[in-house]
Amino acid sequence: MRKIAVTTAALLLFSAILAGCGSSLIKEEKNSEAAQSDIITVGFSQLGAESDWRNTNTASMQEALTPENGFNLVYKNGQQKQANQITAVRMFIQQEVDYIVLAPATETGWESVLTEARDADIPVILVDRRVDVADKSLYSCWVGSDFELESKKMTAWLKAFTERRNISPENLHIVNIQGTPGSTAQIGRTRGLANAARENGWDLMAEVSGDFTENKGREVMAALLKGYDNINVVYCENDNMAIGAIDALESAGKHIGQNIMNGDVMVVSFDGVNEKSREYCREGKISCIAECNPLHGPRVQALIEALENGETPEKFNYVDEGLFSSVSSVKKVVVDGTEYTIQEP
Ligand code: AHR
Repeated sequence: MRKIAVTTAALLLFSAILAGCGSSLIKEEKNSEAAQSDIITVGFSQLGAESDWRNTNTASMQEALTPENGFNLVYKNGQQKQANQITAVRMFIQQEVDYIVLAPATETGWESVLTEARDADIPVILVDRRVDVADKSLYSCWVGSDFELESKKMTAWLKAFTERRNISPENLHIVNIQGTPGSTAQIGRTRGLANAARENGWDLMAEVSGDFTENKGREVMAALLKGYDNINVVYCENDNMAIGAIDALESAGKHIGQNIMNGDVMVVSFDGVNEKSREYCREGKISCIAECNPLHGPRVQALIEALENGETPEKFNYVDEGLFSSVSSVKKVVVDGTEYTIQEP
């Protein structure tokens, strides 16, 4: 895009001379074209708009990559379909954007299109989820969350909660409402729970995808209630699915809370972005939320600026995140040697 601007500048300058314009006009055109040529065009392939987290993430990108900050942002919503995202990336390559920012829906299947971007000399920055490619040089860097760590924090909280209440591990009957299959967030959060269930002897009864949406969360929870009558923990891989699941539980006459040895169903989830889920967390309807931070716009801006300055940013850039809960019995958890103090939602 900057190449096009430079060519346009030369043409305009040439025509101005031909037209015999005064030197001040020529100077003005030169200045404005020079300013235009400094604009960095970024093609952003967002995976969709499935959750409040996603919408906040999109807004963060749009607020950071503005003309005032020196960017021309071309935004494409992939509607949760990888094929749409591949088409968007190909379009960005054709448009000769300066950078491609990709928030991939799922991890596999990116080799060809990322090779095309590299052949076109366009750096790719991954945001939020990752891609599973053997050749890591197909992208410049990544910024996002450690999804498995989020899950380790959540399961450490669950373990501490059961210990404080003297609940035996085999009495935890858990269902996992998972995110989009094959996405980094789903893989990490599912793995964390499966490992903790095995290590602690919890009864992990079912893992079903709710695709990170409220409607699917509601639908899947209603179906799970028909299949299992002893569910006492619902582990939702995001807040929107938790809100849907709570709706289904309440419609089925279940009481949601922490008294899980006496009929309550306990709900835990991830994100902490949505005001409704924070409210639910304050009320104890969601017992614990592992934070997932969506505010990647300024982080992506900083990565692009570093690349523009000829620097080599870290390949993997992790975001610090915490845990929210209003259940007073657990004040902190320790995961991999790091202590996390539980925050008020
Ligand atoms: O990849 C991050 C996850 O995607 C968030 O937890 C979820 O809400 C979103 O849809």
